[in-house]
Amino acid sequence: MSDSKSFVPIQLSTLVGDLALMFDVYIKVDDRCLLYVRSGDEIETHRLKALKKKKVRKLFITGQDETKYQEFLDSLLLNSDKLNSEQKGSLASGVAESASEEIYKNPQSQAAYSTAEKAANNLIDIMSQNQDVLLSILNRDGSGDGTQTSLMHSHAVNVCSLAISFGEELKFSRDQLGTLGIASLFHDVGYAMMKEGDQALFFKDFKSMTPAEQISYKQHPVIGVEALQDKPFANATVLGLIATHEERMNGTGFPKGINNMSPVQECHALCCLYDRQVTCLGQTPETVINDLMINHIGAFNLEVLKKFKAFMKNVYKLG
Ligand SMILES: [Fe+2]
Ligand SMILES: [Fe+2]
Repeated sequence: MSDSKSFVPIQLSTLVGDLALMFDVYIKVDDRCLLYVRSGDEIETHRLKALKKKKVRKLFITGQDETKYQEFLDSLLLNSDKLNSEQKGSLASGVAESASEEIYKNPQSQAAYSTAEKAANNLIDIMSQNQDVLLSILNRDGSGDGTQTSLMHSHAVNVCSLAISFGEELKFSRDQLGTLGIASLFHDVGYAMMKEGDQALFFKDFKSMTPAEQISYKQHPVIGVEALQDKPFANATVLGLIATHEERMNGTGFPKGINNMSPVQECHALCCLYDRQVTCLGQTPETVINDLMINHIGAFNLEVLKKFKAFMKNVYKLG
């Protein structure tokens, strides 16, 4: 036990079982950090699973060991071919989840943007056309603490993974996948800058909002873009993707009601829509997949909708 040290939370899901750690790991009990695994030792996979079952999401390291933790992650990601699909999904989504938390805490910081860039690249590398990794990310046991804000973090990670994966299916370039991944992590960051009452709208179906609520909700892409638009580190394509993530191909979206989007913007908007229905509104993947051809014809190109539906059915192994 060492309460004089400064502790930094890490995502439990980034620790892979049965692998020697290069840093001490602590667990929080009654607001105190207790030594859980000593540097050089490993956490057995069954202990990791038991912690996940107990809804432990975060473990802790000392501030001094942050670099060693980063090196540990980098080496795992570099050698990810040795991991199974579940471990890959857990590791990459854990990294993206940390990035998402950082973004919502400090939306305008360069550090958050760089973390998002890195997380998106990790996901591109680790998922590379492996739909089982995507499935293990989408099916991961609720990674947050059950609050609405943590649901928004999970939503960002899901959209990022989905958009990269579906973007690969659509044969987008590595650069396009990178900007898609960063924009996905940032797309609803306007949430972090809105009042509590307006934040609740992210968990409400658009059609059941009052006209005043719809006006407030329609502002969130604009607020997100405004947070980043004067930042020299923010890529213009990423800003464009955040701006259009609620737009539709037939002009029925918002905030501008445009009726023309690039293929990458369309892919992003579709993945944002899909995962909002699942993660924020609590619908089942099957319902949303089947609903695409009923309620969203015209909002997206028919070919894209068909490809998305087939892609998602494959991911979820639906007949
Ligand atoms: Fe949104
Ligand atoms: Fe969203």
